[in-house]
Amino acid sequence: MTGSPSSRPRVVSGMRPTGRLHLGHLVGALHNWVPLQETHECFYFVADWHALTSEYADASGITGHALDNLADWLAAGIDPERSTLFVQSLVPEHAELHLLLSMVVPVPWLERVPTYKEQQLQLADKDLSTLGFLGYPLLQTADVAIYGARHVPVGEDQVAHLELSREVVRRFNNIFGEVLVEPQPLLTPVSRLPGLDNRKMSKSYGNTIDLADDAATVVKKIRQMYTDPKRVRADIPGTVEGNPVFMYHDAFNPDTAEVDDLKARYRAGAVGDVEVKTKLAAAMNALLEPMRERRRQFVEHPDRLREIAVEGSRKARVVAVETMERVRGAVGLRY
Ligand code: TRP
Repeated sequence: MTGSPSSRPRVVSGMRPTGRLHLGHLVGALHNWVPLQETHECFYFVADWHALTSEYADASGITGHALDNLADWLAAGIDPERSTLFVQSLVPEHAELHLLLSMVVPVPWLERVPTYKEQQLQLADKDLSTLGFLGYPLLQTADVAIYGARHVPVGEDQVAHLELSREVVRRFNNIFGEVLVEPQPLLTPVSRLPGLDNRKMSKSYGNTIDLADDAATVVKKIRQMYTDPKRVRADIPGTVEGNPVFMYHDAFNPDTAEVDDLKARYRAGAVGDVEVKTKLAAAMNALLEPMRERRRQFVEHPDRLREIAVEGSRKARVVAVETMERVRGAVGLRY
């Protein structure tokens, strides 16, 4: 696909700034977001209000994480010259659209979204019986609809949210006329990566490799990584399938000949864990080092980061304001 950015199909996606980014964000989102810049007009944003829906009791980390995450996006190859990078709360029109959508969405539609009850159970230490948390997928609907994006690059876990988005948009359009676009997920093809301990990768389990980890930390974390537990000695044949160390090799080691050799010797009981892990750590650090270098430049110049966020938000806002003028008109709020 060619053409000026504005003639390309538009995509919108966001990430909640709840902590440092790790390998899961790299393979689950950023590795998909970066190439879309070649073919689409991309709007990528830090969903700080969405973070607030679960972190409201201690919101002190949100703005710091927002800028830190932005540095990781830039380090991973998101280009502020080609994509519109912004902060949700700097485009307050999202909140206005959320409010107008809330007029037509039946509360049971929101209660039925599977993540609603799941998250309440999972985050039982937090009181998520709030209106803000119930409205999470509605705010997400506003995030996307305000830019008229037909496609939303997300992982499988967001499909239910977009299904709700389509239903809400349809209902809104039925009532007020065809003013909003129904969004579809653009599914990220992800090889599900487990955490270092073979549980689900999650910052709350402390089983992640973070994009900001230094080389020594990566070596140390990989040395402690879960592997075939039956293999108590190097001469015992091991299992490669479902072994996180080899899943990471497949995902991050570009030297496929080396990976094939390690797998063959692992199956034969002819390689030690140390060699397998040392080679994984080397591949991982080769991938992360250039990102660390770029990240460092931004972290050392927080003013530059802030400027990118503010300038991108100003650009996003031009589109959002224009949409809201049409939406207000459709709803009949004309004065
Ligand atoms: N809910 C998304 C997540 O947790 C984040 C998000 C908020 C988002 N608004 C969005 C993603 C709009 C895509 C489009 O990953």
